Amino acid sequence: MSNKRGHTILLGGLGGDSHSVGLTILRQSLSANGYQVRYLGTQNTLADFFQMSSLANLVMISSMDGHARYYLREFPALKRQFNTNGTIWYLGGNLGVSGGERDFIEMGFNRVFVKFIELTNVLNILERDLDGVQAVANYPELWKRSLPATCCFPGVASDMLLEPETFESQRREVLEHWKTGSGARNIASNAQFLMRQPSFAKVQAQARMDHGQILVQPRCGVALIAEQIRLFKNFKRAGVKVLSYQVDSLTRNNNYEGAEEAIRDSRLSGSSTLNGFPLVNHGVTALRRIAQQVRLPLQTRHSTRDPRLLAEISYAGGVTSFEGGAISYNIPYYKNYPLAEAIRNWQYVDYLTGLHHKLFGIVLDREFFGTLTATLIPPCLAIVTNIIETLLSVRQGVKCVSLGYAEQGHRSQDIAAIRMMAQMTREILDQMGYTDVQLNTVFHQYMAAFPPCEKRADELIRSSAMTAARSGATRLIGKTPVEAFRIPTLTDNITGIELIKGGLAGASDCYVDETRVAEECASIRREVEAIFESIVLSGNGDIAQGVVTGFEKGLMDIPFSPSVHNRGEVMTTRDVEGAVRFLSTGNLTLDRESREFHRDKVSERRKAEGVCSPSQDHLLVERDVMQIACGRYERWPLGQ
Ligand code: 5AD
Repeated sequence: MSNKRGHTILLGGLGGDSHSVGLTILRQSLSANGYQVRYLGTQNTLADFFQMSSLANLVMISSMDGHARYYLREFPALKRQFNTNGTIWYLGGNLGVSGGERDFIEMGFNRVFVKFIELTNVLNILERDLDGVQAVANYPELWKRSLPATCCFPGVASDMLLEPETFESQRREVLEHWKTGSGARNIASNAQFLMRQPSFAKVQAQARMDHGQILVQPRCGVALIAEQIRLFKNFKRAGVKVLSYQVDSLTRNNNYEGAEEAIRDSRLSGSSTLNGFPLVNHGVTALRRIAQQVRLPLQTRHSTRDPRLLAEISYAGGVTSFEGGAISYNIPYYKNYPLAEAIRNWQYVDYLTGLHHKLFGIVLDREFFGTLTATLIPPCLAIVTNIIETLLSVRQGVKCVSLGYAEQGHRSQDIAAIRMMAQMTREILDQMGYTDVQLNTVFHQYMAAFPPCEKRADELIRSSAMTAARSGATRLIGKTPVEAFRIPTLTDNITGIELIKGGLAGASDCYVDETRVAEECASIRREVEAIFESIVLSGNGDIAQGVVTGFEKGLMDIPFSPSVHNRGEVMTTRDVEGAVRFLSTGNLTLDRESREFHRDKVSERRKAEGVCSPSQDHLLVERDVMQIACGRYERWPLGQ
């Protein structure tokens, strides 16, 4: 079923959703099957599709957030206006509660896929629909010119320490972003408060000394302060030693007006109308009240686009750890956020973090979200991301870092990933003279689509805790059995913590194949060295510049990302044992040995599944992406 006549397909997501796993698989499999794919990525408007529809035979629109009807209300009018007579229109995704297939057909779509449909079926239907259709002419230049401009950021990225004047002038502006900013202005008096707070860095250092005492961290975040305190106090009672709140998604998009309204609604209705804690709106005094009542080290977890004000208020309010970085809180989350701009914003956060040490001797922890898109992430890409974000932060004076990695499901590979992440980052820091930087590792329990079946979710959480303990990670970020359905309540979280404790208790008896771990360590080391070196070289020694040009050239490429600043040429799948391998290495500069290793592992898998040509590779990825959520596996972990 491969297309020989070079039909062109315009493919993209419509509306606010940034999930790009499905789109990525479609893109790759359409290309592998001979179609010319014009890829718009996620978060497009309807007009974006129409403006480019004349360059394609067929337009495929995916809408994932359930609001398809709303986004498509102008569809019939635009179809008349653009007079797209020869174009075939497909619609798929989670189209929403109201309106079935018929409504969208009446609107002018030729095919509508309301439910999940296997890719092979889509490819078959496509072939039939395009049979006898003349391929449109291919105008690459015209396509390039019609693309919405990629945001560019004026100024060159550099990993040098910020000038104090640059920081101060930015700071005046940052503290004006919302009315609560002024409450963070006086760093000296903030430091007086912060100094008396329990320290994330100290608790982590202590945990690493008490061998085997991994810190367990649950997640929570609600709109109102009293409820946030109640959650924290209950976690403390359950034995939790470090706490964090998730910031809500309005704050993450710097929409403080929206968050203000939602807080008002939550007060009126008596229940949280936000998916997290709106820290910027609540401000410094509120956070200090929480810190004083809870008396445990606190952390801010978020993925905020411009994190500067959030960091100011966090530290001023007594928080001693702040998550995020220029790659990890950008490429997996935003469609068009230039890396140079993200680097500048995160350097401000790192400088502010370092300033607390320089002026007052306070060590604050900075954590990096090596989880990335959470979907089939090979350890080397997570580790290089962590190394880069670590180096950018220590350049600005940061003294304590926590490196994040999300479990993928193969025990030896996951253990090797945590160990190599700690070991290689330590080596690089020491070589560069940063011997005084404290280094911790964070094990995220499986972060992709979770099993809906309670028994399987329980098993995953328990077995995953065993892997975490044996990896030697400093901290474990836990899941709950309701992950597939909802944001966990307090009770869900307590159940999660109990399951984790059960796993930790059994960890010393759990089987770990140290020979396999050593093999995985060796291949991870080779890959990390090659990719990291290519980034350093591409920036002529400057890490910040290396990140910008490295992503442009595809030397770093994060699978399934929505960002247009990420090439999206790398593709991953599992091998027969369940370990994550490269199906396509894109432009990554891996050495021959690494390439052959991955090629062999993938060939073995293809053979085992009866996939005989690369044009069917999508079958593997599709199966892997759906496997856990559909319960199509025997046990967790998938492999030892
Ligand atoms: N409360 C509890 N858990 C949350 N998560 C995200 N926001 C919240 C919140 N407000 C959890 C999700 C998921 C992970 C990304 O964080 O359940 O497991």
